[in-house]
Amino acid sequence: MSDELKRGLEGVLVAESELSHVDGEVGTLVYRGYDIEELARDASYEEVLYLLWYGSLPTREELESFATSLADERDVDEDVLATVRTLADAGERPMAALRTATSMLSAYDDGAEVEGREGTLEQGARITAKIPTVLAAFERARQGQPPIDPDPELSHAGNFLYMLTGVEPDEVSEETFDEALTLHADHGLNASTFTAMVIGSTMADVYSGVTGGIGALSGSLHGGANQDVMELLYEIHESDKDPVEWVKDAREAGRRVPGFGHRVYKVKDPRARILQERLRDLAAASGDDTWLQYTTAIEEYLTEEGLVEKGIAPNVDFYSGSVYDSMGIPMDLYTPIFAMSRVGGWVAHVAEYQADNRLIRPRARYTGPDSAEFVPIDER
Ligand code: ACO
Repeated sequence: MSDELKRGLEGVLVAESELSHVDGEVGTLVYRGYDIEELARDASYEEVLYLLWYGSLPTREELESFATSLADERDVDEDVLATVRTLADAGERPMAALRTATSMLSAYDDGAEVEGREGTLEQGARITAKIPTVLAAFERARQGQPPIDPDPELSHAGNFLYMLTGVEPDEVSEETFDEALTLHADHGLNASTFTAMVIGSTMADVYSGVTGGIGALSGSLHGGANQDVMELLYEIHESDKDPVEWVKDAREAGRRVPGFGHRVYKVKDPRARILQERLRDLAAASGDDTWLQYTTAIEEYLTEEGLVEKGIAPNVDFYSGSVYDSMGIPMDLYTPIFAMSRVGGWVAHVAEYQADNRLIRPRARYTGPDSAEFVPIDER
């Protein structure tokens, strides 16, 4: 047994997986061998889910049947919606509300019809279908509005945008949002996926895995960074400072730039490249290129400064926030939207891992005293 300590499990191989591969040196991401750029451009989120869950790209008939079965699961029990309203009234943060509601969904799931991998995927599909409904209902409740029923005729992406506002999204918004869902669907053994796997490795149910994944994703070193980036951009905007000056000051004060750096990527994240292009399209369509100007200026400055060369390059979160903001989505929904997509990866990894399960149980190097003399409480 090796006693080498790997803080943060950096670089440690803990499992085999066919699902996705990140080449952090070159800056590529594939899902089951398919390049993320091609999938984002040419496949829908539903197609990507099918690929991750069932191992191959669907035929048209397979996709239609899969998408219909997913759409049929979008309704959420009234008790869960009532809890969502209670959480919104109490001022709960969206990721925490989503975590609570996702856990509660299991009370209204009669269990999978089959056991094993197929059962995990069956329940995982229900969770994946219902999370957008929960999230949109939460946002509506915060606005003092009743929830909007899901529309089974709309795509996963289009239906979520529709449930937020009651207005069917235009084609550009729906496609951009669908692309963002595809880009976030899976990413190797990131912290939230690993959390879901650890939970799954105890043979706990997939609701537990997804609930744990949401908790892990909420942190600012992981999914929470997309909101941090947008807050930074607004802070710069409201301070009337030049974005480069602002970042210089922040760096001098020892602050990290959110949306930069990644445990695996040592070059620009391919998802950031794609989202930057979408931001360009949205800016051209709206005529407002403020966020594009700010983000580009910051990236250029940090490149000149040598940060990017040191391997601290833009990650997916650097551009996703401004894309969502350009679509009118509230800032604190960005991380829950990330969860709404990544749930596909969590479910896929739990199903894959449990099929050849080994309880995940690492060790810590003990640094406490060898022995201590116990003193009864009244004598301390
Ligand atoms: N800005 C400035 N310096 C940075 C940044 C940054 N965003 N990220 C890392 N560094 C520096 C660190 O200060 C450290 O420098 P040092 O060696 O001189 O002390 C060095 O790079 C290595 O940093 P670590 O924290 O050890 O790298 P790690 O692999 O643990 O961190 C992480 C990865 C957590 C993502 C980090 O880059 C970070 O905090 N980024 C900002 C938050 C962020 O964008 N998170 C989203 C990640 S993508 C995702 O989860 C979807």
